[in-house]
Amino acid sequence: MKRPIVKIGNPVLRAHTRLVPRKILSQKSFAGLIREMIETMRGAQGVGLAANQIGKNLRLFVMECRGNKRYPKVASFPLQAYLNIRILLYSKSQENGWEGCLSVPGFRGLVPRSKKIWVEAQALDGTKIRRTFSGFEARVVQHETDHLNGLFYLDRMKNLKTWTHLEEFNRKHKRNIKDNK
Ligand code: NI
Repeated sequence: MKRPIVKIGNPVLRAHTRLVPRKILSQKSFAGLIREMIETMRGAQGVGLAANQIGKNLRLFVMECRGNKRYPKVASFPLQAYLNIRILLYSKSQENGWEGCLSVPGFRGLVPRSKKIWVEAQALDGTKIRRTFSGFEARVVQHETDHLNGLFYLDRMKNLKTWTHLEEFNRKHKRNIKDNK
């Protein structure tokens, strides 16, 4: 079942999320939450969704990018879920890229992000994961991890003058992208 996406202004999106406790991983309600997050992300054509974006104060996000209509020109990556993620290291080298957010529908902003990151997290069964991400996938992990720390891409923008309404973004980039309301 899809859930309503919480929008910017709601305090749950500015809170530091709680660590996911190991004891809930085997519960049916936890499997249900993961399913709802995936359905909500896919239903909104998102490439990532943090638990607090559906009002759950938990340190957990899902991500997936396969022929995405809102991000048509980026490399695909498979469905993934991470619990209790920590970004251990950010590459000094950064690149600018356009980002939107399901909690800030109808806008895009140019955001500098590290090209490569090293993370530690847990998989859905609690096993420890250590890996690196690069390119657009690293951008999404940084965006979603920011959500779990109460931050928006707007907080990472160097210059709010690039903040753009989606209508203007589409006109400028000759696209026809729509965000769900
Ligand atoms: Ni977002």
